[in-house]
Amino acid sequence: MASNSQIENGKILPTWGILGAGAMGWLWTYYLQRAKIGTLLLQRQNTSYRECIIQKDSIFENCRTSAIKSDNPCLPALDALIIATKAYSVRNALLPLQEVLSSKQIPIILLQNGLGVFEEVRQLLPEQPILILSTSNGAYWHESAFLKLTGIGYSYFGTLDNSVPDSLKQVLLKQLKATGLPVLFTDNILKQLWEKLLVNCSINSLSALWLCRNGDLLDNRNSKQIWKRIVQEGVQVMRLELHQEVEPSEILTFIEQVAYKTSANYSSMCEDRRRNRPNEVDYIQGYLVRKAHQHNVSVPTLETLAELLKFPENSSLKPTPN
Ligand code: PAF
Repeated sequence: MASNSQIENGKILPTWGILGAGAMGWLWTYYLQRAKIGTLLLQRQNTSYRECIIQKDSIFENCRTSAIKSDNPCLPALDALIIATKAYSVRNALLPLQEVLSSKQIPIILLQNGLGVFEEVRQLLPEQPILILSTSNGAYWHESAFLKLTGIGYSYFGTLDNSVPDSLKQVLLKQLKATGLPVLFTDNILKQLWEKLLVNCSINSLSALWLCRNGDLLDNRNSKQIWKRIVQEGVQVMRLELHQEVEPSEILTFIEQVAYKTSANYSSMCEDRRRNRPNEVDYIQGYLVRKAHQHNVSVPTLETLAELLKFPENSSLKPTPN
């Protein structure tokens, strides 16, 4: 088994790899460790461990994980690998790992916002068990100093093809549930991904353009009007993609619930804009627009948002680190 397997009371603890040390990578590192699951951060640096300060409610904790350079050919036999990079980085981040992952058939769990990443990874790793964890937990970096966990939402766990045997799904689900976070298995993860896509189209677009927290959008007349238009347009495409009825008012309520639960949060797209970093527009608003065009559905609001959100391409500001 893995050379860096962690042992407690004579028992080998499961070890999960985390690729991507952003807010979501650290959030899951923190919760997996609380579930007594060993973590190994796969990173660009060549250090054997990494640390981060986490704030949950008013408590600050130091989270420390073993780490390894992600192109190290001696990757241990991980029980699962969470991919927590931005959607546009997944392919390049996985390229150096392609051989070792497929030879060990390590299950991959994708965390990205938006849609389209599963297909990219499937192309790279045709035989791999690939799962998706769609979550609306909030976390953001407070002045680059520590990670603030801001809201707990349901996480849906599932897959988009039949690459994962039921027994493996159950083992991974049990370990995820041991974190104490509400995780539900679903046979229809695509529906959850579309609902989340509309949440991200609504909350992330406006918070990034107006540089505000998610909660600031709740009492704002303009945002409510724009959300209605986004949902009206998005639901038409969603119905055609899912071949099922979708109720716009339910999606609007869900958007409001997520904004409420994560009100203290700066959305990921808002954070990207604040740091003048690339964002996930091509996997969120852009994905929806591409699908709408395939179905000949008119989505003018989403088209405009997708163009407005082309940062940092259209900005002259310099990117800043975390
Ligand atoms: O992208 C994000 O920031 C998150 O998906 C969410 C749920 C909108 C919370 O900020």
